[in-house]
Amino acid sequence: MIDESRIRAQLAHTLREFDASGLGTLYRGKVRDNYSQDGRIVMVTTDRVSAFDHVLGTIPYKGEVLSRLTLFWFDKVKDIAPTHVLSSPDPSVMVVKRAQALPVEIVIRGYITGSLWRDYQAGKAGAYGIEWPKGLRRDQRFETAVITPSTKAEYGKHDEPISEAEILKQGLVAPEVWKEATAVAHRLFARGQEWARGRGLILVDTKYEMGIADGELVVIDEIHTPDSSRYWVAGSYEERVARGEEPEMLDKENIRQWLIKEHGFSGQGKPPPLTDDVRVMLAQKYMQVYEKLTGEAFDSEVGSVDARIRRNLKAAGLMA
Ligand SMILES: Nc1ncnc2c1ncn2[C@@H]1O[C@H](COP(=O)(O)OP(=O)(O)OP(=O)(O)O)[C@@H](O)[C@H]1O
Ligand SMILES: [Mg+2]
Repeated sequence: MIDESRIRAQLAHTLREFDASGLGTLYRGKVRDNYSQDGRIVMVTTDRVSAFDHVLGTIPYKGEVLSRLTLFWFDKVKDIAPTHVLSSPDPSVMVVKRAQALPVEIVIRGYITGSLWRDYQAGKAGAYGIEWPKGLRRDQRFETAVITPSTKAEYGKHDEPISEAEILKQGLVAPEVWKEATAVAHRLFARGQEWARGRGLILVDTKYEMGIADGELVVIDEIHTPDSSRYWVAGSYEERVARGEEPEMLDKENIRQWLIKEHGFSGQGKPPPLTDDVRVMLAQKYMQVYEKLTGEAFDSEVGSVDARIRRNLKAAGLMA
């Protein structure tokens, strides 16, 4: 792992936004700057971090970790479904096939935790149209993974839980497409859990985005990253849960917890500024996930991410 002093040195060089006129039409998501042109998107994964639908700031090396992990996982699941990736001219950039994105996110969960646990406990987990068994305990594993879809809200709005019945009734996704998408999600998740387990991690839950490109269902966006998934340390899970403690988390939950515990912030009002320490802490967690999953040390240079991307996009002939 990159040592702490270098992560600190990188704090000043993180990528907040990537501006490039000529790359295409810009759509700036919470994390990615997407330039569309001619059926493809140059997708720049910035170092922005968001929680509770607010962009909070940047985390050193975050864009690179997410982009490299997505490529790693896409390769691991390529026999299950086609993905949108065409090339990766820079460690933080993917050129992808533009798809007609399904208007729902396919969230799949192996354990009851987070917002689902809170809703279940409050008797408010009905929106998914699922009959939840009684007497579940926090952080307990489900017998079989459960899909809890959410709507893909427009910018500035919150994603909302939705049931399969409602998705079909509203005609958001055609029945045969939905059937295929959920089957693919189960296979992807099983593969992800199996791989993670072999590396000492639990893939707790994750979110897939899928779309149609050239008449085919493709996996788009990112996959099995610590932004879109929860990861717990497998070795300490049983013991910690038995003691009534939370599992050891290596994902974005760390920053949510910091916001809640240190600042009482859970989405309402103005988020607090991130301290350097919390930015470094999250960078280390993300690198740990990368290293555990890939079995390789994460290394990168200290320096301007923006300048590096420009160099690489020029070399690839994507920018003048
Ligand atoms: N192959 C693709 N074709 C079309 N759209 C895609 C593709 N891959 C990803 N996207 C979309 O590009 C955007 C990626 O940006 P990012 O991940 O930052 O968005 P987000 O903040 O998660 O979502 P939002 O769109 O709500 O801001 C998302 O809206 C995602 O749905
Ligand atoms: Mg996204």
